[in-house]
Amino acid sequence: MQQVKGVIARSKGAPVELVTINIPDPGPGEAVVAIQACGVCHTDLHYREGGINDDFPFLLGHEAAGVVESVGSGVTEVAPGDFVVLNWRAVCGQCRACKRGEPQYCFNTHNATQKMSLAEGEGAGTELSPALGIGAFADKTLVAAGQCTKVDPEARPAAAGLLGCGVMAGIGAAINTGGATRGKSVAVIGCGGVGVAAIAGAALAGANPIIAVDIDAKKLAQAEALGATHTVDSSQVDAVEEIKRISAQFHEGAEGADVVIEAVGRPETWKQAFYARDLAGTVVLVGVPTPDMKVPDLPLIDVFGRGGALKSSWYGDCLPSRDFPMLIDLYRQGRLDLDAFVSEEIAIDEVEAAFEKMHHGDVLRSVVVL
Ligand SMILES: NC(=O)c1ccc[n+]([C@@H]2O[C@H](COP(=O)([O-])OP(=O)(O)OC[C@H]3O[C@@H](n4cnc5c(N)ncnc54)[C@H](O)[C@@H]3O)[C@@H](O)[C@H]2O)c1
Ligand SMILES: [Zn+2]
Ligand SMILES: [Zn+2]
Repeated sequence: MQQVKGVIARSKGAPVELVTINIPDPGPGEAVVAIQACGVCHTDLHYREGGINDDFPFLLGHEAAGVVESVGSGVTEVAPGDFVVLNWRAVCGQCRACKRGEPQYCFNTHNATQKMSLAEGEGAGTELSPALGIGAFADKTLVAAGQCTKVDPEARPAAAGLLGCGVMAGIGAAINTGGATRGKSVAVIGCGGVGVAAIAGAALAGANPIIAVDIDAKKLAQAEALGATHTVDSSQVDAVEEIKRISAQFHEGAEGADVVIEAVGRPETWKQAFYARDLAGTVVLVGVPTPDMKVPDLPLIDVFGRGGALKSSWYGDCLPSRDFPMLIDLYRQGRLDLDAFVSEEIAIDEVEAAFEKMHHGDVLRSVVVL
């Protein structure tokens, strides 16, 4: 057992606190990781607001890179000293999805068995719920060894860690779920961290044109920097008509984009995606709706008549062991600009301020560097 500092959300809506926490020594199948960097994601804010579940107190942070400090018995995949990106998809190998050869859909992913806990003050000894089974706004965290994915140690931790959640979700939504590739057009509605990552993924795959849609001009500029060939400010013009017009310029007869990615998580933008895709095209919902939202009222004949696929994408349908090292190598070769997602590096006591910045749309990612 050791004690370190970590950022917790103690109760619904309360500002986060930097407190001392207990980290157990790793048991069978577990690892303790010394965190070097961890991005601030919208999901951390959802936890703090009680939007995920009620298992307070939460140990926040989940887009992280660091160095393995120690491992428990039976751990063979990583060793002390390894540079790793943490993931929230340590696949089980036993569930129905794993057994049918689709581990990216694993329904029974691993987390650490032992619990970290509060070390001092009110509620000392209370078990912590780590965000997405990670909890990395902390000097160190305890995870399942399968949550550690080894990557090239030359990579900058602040950039590499972002693959652990939002950037992987976006890149994977384009490539893994949407099947973006050369000869296909891609449109992305909503250009925050996830949407811009989808644009970077589409660019990596050779898609053309790549159409970025947002209601915020600052976001459209970032989208262009990461590979969008066209931008559409949907606060000014009709997104569906613009996507159709631009797609038809590149592919004669196209009635929309081949792949349309919704990265906002709202019924009205999903409906735009539905009507902005070409016949037999693919819609990918990567934005996360709230439980009260409903599928928009659509004529069933339009669902039938337009053919194609309506998909959703969890974590970009990624397989961390396959995708993280590959994407880090492309980053190291200058083919994927992960640094562009790091808007600022902040200290561990600045997470609350970073939540505030999210609302103003100035940052793609604030990254805590330890
Ligand atoms: N599926 C997954 O595995 C996964 C993983 C991480 C995040 N997400 C989700 O992806 C979504 C985006 O995350 P983010 O970090 O990029 O958030 P963000 O808040 O940074 O970005 C949202 C963007 O959508 C834009 N937007 C809002 N309303 C719009 C509208 N009507 N039309 C066009 N654009 C609009 C905003 O201006 C902003 O640029 C969230 O719902 C998040 O929860 C999903
Ligand atoms: Zn499984
Ligand atoms: Zn996240």
